[in-house]
Amino acid sequence: MSAKLIKEGVYAVGVTDWNERCFHGHTYVTKRGVTYNSYLILDEKITLIDTVRAGFEKELIENIKSVVDPAKIDVIIINHIEPDHSGAFPEILKACPNAKIYGTEKAKQGLLKYYGVCGDWSSVKSGQKLCIGKRTLDFIDVPMIHWPDSMFTYSAYDKILFSNDGFGQHYATNKIFDDEVNFGALMDEAQKYYANILWPFNMLVASKLASIDKLNLNIEFIAPSHGLVWRKHISEIMQKYLYWSSHSCKNRIAVVYETMWSSTEKMARKIVEGISSEGVEAVLFDVTKNDRTDIASYMLDAKGWVFGSSTHDGGMLSVIAGFLHFLKGSKAKGCKSFAFGSYGWSGEAVKDIEDTISNVTSFEPSLKILWNPTCEELDKCFKVGKTFALKIKSELN
Ligand code: FEO
Repeated sequence: MSAKLIKEGVYAVGVTDWNERCFHGHTYVTKRGVTYNSYLILDEKITLIDTVRAGFEKELIENIKSVVDPAKIDVIIINHIEPDHSGAFPEILKACPNAKIYGTEKAKQGLLKYYGVCGDWSSVKSGQKLCIGKRTLDFIDVPMIHWPDSMFTYSAYDKILFSNDGFGQHYATNKIFDDEVNFGALMDEAQKYYANILWPFNMLVASKLASIDKLNLNIEFIAPSHGLVWRKHISEIMQKYLYWSSHSCKNRIAVVYETMWSSTEKMARKIVEGISSEGVEAVLFDVTKNDRTDIASYMLDAKGWVFGSSTHDGGMLSVIAGFLHFLKGSKAKGCKSFAFGSYGWSGEAVKDIEDTISNVTSFEPSLKILWNPTCEELDKCFKVGKTFALKIKSELN
């Protein structure tokens, strides 16, 4: 990819990682690949906002060169130091020997810890501004959205909010803007991104959105450091962030299970039939066959969660245990759940499930069945699913 014009004087110079499928050390399956966005502003002081992942340094430098000699860059702004944005920083420092570097104090500490260098650094915080010529850039701290060092940078002249991870999507494309790709696919990726990156920080996202709203920024572009630049659908993505961060729930139920010899799976299928009999949307996820990334995205706005596991060695099976470990870090609220599963001795899996995520959801009475479910027991699964669906419907009415 070469540099692409966002608007006069502002270029996208980042890179596209078309084949990245295991982002964040295998915790995030990126079926559409990833982009690491970096932005170049031509003004009296030539300014680079964020760098890219290690391994893409040369491509970033070539993209910058297609617009300007990197040695002429005066300012580098580091909105966030996670290595997908800072890995190229040491090489960029060498290519831009005259640049002054700006970021939060936490970012400085982090860069020194990761790379042993931070360049000619100035720490900045919310309320501080930097004049680069016609433009004055505003810095906005967004700590824990999603790292302690995170910040946004706003250019009032361009009406662009450079939001780093905020409003990102893992969507590799040779397009630049939100209106150049399929809207449904884009929003799916934005939701998946929120569920897998920002969900644990719901309260912070909500309060930061409120404080940014009070700033009355005139925003015509949101330029994140992953995926497409928002220009047409800004109000939609803002509304979605308000909705996701408030954990508003839809009338739908996720049924997530792991089975050993299919008994728990038979129960799961009957439970879904019972839910469906009440006209409530439900999706069945075998946690061993679906990406955690996709399940979390569906669960982000599901009102009901149902978890099943066979009992093994006195607890739940290991893959669903890993999934619930992830889920207990979410800041879900208001969800109703119940646990179910088959067993051969004493059936500890359901209690194990309940104990693991009781911090984020409340449980209805569980259902456990010895060995293999009989026809009568499958009828019971159907009825439990139906009753749970009625409960979910009544909670939302
Ligand atoms: Fe895209 Fe927090 O890094």
